[in-house]
Parts: sequence; structure tokens; C-alpha cells
Amino acid sequence: MLSTSEHLAQIAARKPDHALSHDLYCDPGVFQTDLNEIWYKEWLFAVPSCELVKPGAYATMQVGAYPVVVIKGKDNRIRAFHNVCRHRGQRLCSKVSGSTPNLVCPYHQWTYDLEGKLIFARDMGEDFDPSKFGLKKVHCIDLGGVVYICLAEVPPPVADLAKAAAPFLAPSGLADAKVAFSSTIIEKGNWKLVFENNRECYHCGGSHPSLCRTYSDNPSMTAIYGPDDAASEIMVHWDRCEKAGLPARFTWKDDYQWRLTRIPLLNNAESFTMSTKAAVAKRMGTMPFNDAGSLLMYHYPNTWNHFLADHAIVFRIIPISPTETEVTTKWLVHKDAVEGVDYDLKTLTEVWLATNDEDRQVVEENQYGILSPAYEPGPYSRLQEEGVIQFIDWYCNLMTHRLAPRPALAAE
Ligand code: FES
Ligand SMILES: [Fe+2]
Repeated sequence: MLSTSEHLAQIAARKPDHALSHDLYCDPGVFQTDLNEIWYKEWLFAVPSCELVKPGAYATMQVGAYPVVVIKGKDNRIRAFHNVCRHRGQRLCSKVSGSTPNLVCPYHQWTYDLEGKLIFARDMGEDFDPSKFGLKKVHCIDLGGVVYICLAEVPPPVADLAKAAAPFLAPSGLADAKVAFSSTIIEKGNWKLVFENNRECYHCGGSHPSLCRTYSDNPSMTAIYGPDDAASEIMVHWDRCEKAGLPARFTWKDDYQWRLTRIPLLNNAESFTMSTKAAVAKRMGTMPFNDAGSLLMYHYPNTWNHFLADHAIVFRIIPISPTETEVTTKWLVHKDAVEGVDYDLKTLTEVWLATNDEDRQVVEENQYGILSPAYEPGPYSRLQEEGVIQFIDWYCNLMTHRLAPRPALAAE
């Protein structure tokens, strides 16, 4: 198991533009440090806000050692709490999702309201002060329809992302959407391999026959490098979208932790379907035309998303172990769209269900190879894998900064 200094040394020894070492993908000490320094400190996508329709609707998630519950209050605000009873620590909600008027601990029935206040605790004596035993809060923000949480005591700034995402997401009307389908799979691969695989389409032609009907694997079509290197089709698409009130041009954080851009699908395809036509008759929000392409939004370390004219697909990853990662995908449609009338579930989901399974296979085979003592990190393609280079550089720079030994404080 690697110590922190060994972890740092392996990052320092990495050749530029090369994959990480065996240990950085497989070692349990590195996994724990990744949890401590990234997963317990960064903003993480939790749920689309439309999943929590009424007060009392909740969803749970497990981030490393932390069980978390995200719940809608009577004031319609979404909050997040540590899903841990303040009596003797029982997990309060064990289901993935549900609805409840109050949070009642299943052990001894201590009861919390939807704002986390302890409102019932039987026979605790006269000197017991319930106001001291409210649920512990987790930072939570709704970025225009996508709810993020942060486990850190002091979360990193999120205002720049909130400001950038709001105009991009607004035309999708995510608050007026509903979850049409949800899928959770476990990929037997390190979380960084799952994200790396998402950040390139070098593998798409060989792995994704159904996605490639509508999604270009040309890196300049998906504008990996930034606006200066975008294909001319993208420029035309950006102009057309922006004239129709859809923000489209690139915006990103300088270290690439997140990025937003709207790209065209192939040959004016409307949606990720086998026919290339829209899967849902009712458009999302105020989307002006069917062939608006896909608004791509990713945020390291745990989400990437496609917002199309007829539906949206949101992805969330959560690390389970050094070599296992949970991937949850949700398909959102307009809340008034009726299954069987406005959309057919198979048509809506078949391309990305297949694509996710194809990605699972490549990630798992990648992990198998990296587990071999014969594995040696190879070079990324600067033409095809710039997005992977950006992600791995972000990881290495962040870890180098966070793990760097601090100078000892001078004695007073
Ligand atoms: S542990 Fe929750 S009421 Fe006892
Ligand atoms: Fe893929």
C-alpha cells in the first residue's frame, strides 16, 4: 500500500502525456488518498433536481465512507445531510430513493424534519437538548437542474460554474423534466480509467457502432482542443444556436475541471437513436429545434452529460474500490411527455444502454491489462486523447498541490 510520499513520487515520475503507473490505478493507499483529497473535497453531481418532485422526496448516495441523503424540504429547497442518526449512528435511509414526511431513524425512532431538525427523541431526560442533535449538513447546490454536493467543511468555489452553467442549461427546462429511466452498473475498473475513457473518442469507431450513427469521433468535431481548433461545422452550429438563443460556444475552467459547449450531431441527426430522429415528441424546455445537437457538460471527478433537444442524459460515477466504479445514467424527458404516446422507452435508451455496456467492457479490459506486472504506461495521442491528457494533468497537478509537504510552522 503506497504512502502519501510514494504516491507523490509516482506522480512526479510520470512521463508527460503518458498514462499513469500501475499503482496509481490499482493501489489501495492511492484509492484512499483519492477519496480523501478529491472525493471528500470536490463538488460532486448527486441527482437531477426533477427527481425530487415533492417535499419529502429523497435520494441517497454513498461516497467512500460517507452515506448522504439529498432531500427536498417543505420550502421546496433541496438540502443534503449526512445520512447518519445523531443518537447512535444508525443509517437513516437505506433505500436508494423514496419519500417521507420526516426522517425517522429505524433503530429507536429519533425523528428529524426535512430541514434536519431533531423533532422527536423518546425518554432522553429533562436535560436533553434536541437543538444540539440536528442532522449534520452536507453542502448542496442546485445548478439550474443538476444538484451537486460537497463533503468538505469549506467547499471549493462554485460560483464560476454556477454562472457559466445557468444560461447553457436554462433552455433545457430541467426543472420541468422527469426521469424516464435510470440505470446503475458497476464497472470493474478504477474511477480514473472510467473518466479517461469518457474523455476520448479514439475508441468510439471500434467500440460504439450504434453511438457512431449520430456522434462524431472526430476530435475537432467534439472540440476537444478549444474554440480555435473547432471544425467549421461547429462554427456554423454555434452561430445558428446562438441566433436562436442557445448559448453554444466553449466555456471552461482554466484547469479544465469543467467545460460546457454545444456540438452538432452527425448529418443533422436529432438524437442518440438508431434512426437518428428525435426519441421524444415533446421537446425539452424552450429548445427551438430538434437538431440542436448536444450540450456537453462535464465536471471532474464524477459527471458528464448530454443535453439534447428532445431529452437529456446525466451520468454520475462513484468509486467503490480501487478497481470498481459505479456508473449511474438517467434519461430525462419533458415532464408532460407520456411513455407510449410521446416516446418509446426502448428507442430512447437503447443507444446509451449499449454504449455504457461497451464502455464497461473496454474499461474492464483496460483494468485487467494494467493489473499485469508487464504493464508499462504508454503515450496518449495528442491528436485524439487531448481530453485524457487534460484530465490526467488535472489529477496530477491537484494531487501534487494537496499532498505536497507543508513547511513546518516556525515555533512562536
Ligand atoms: S440510532 Fe437512531 S434513534 Fe437510535
Ligand atoms: Fe465510449
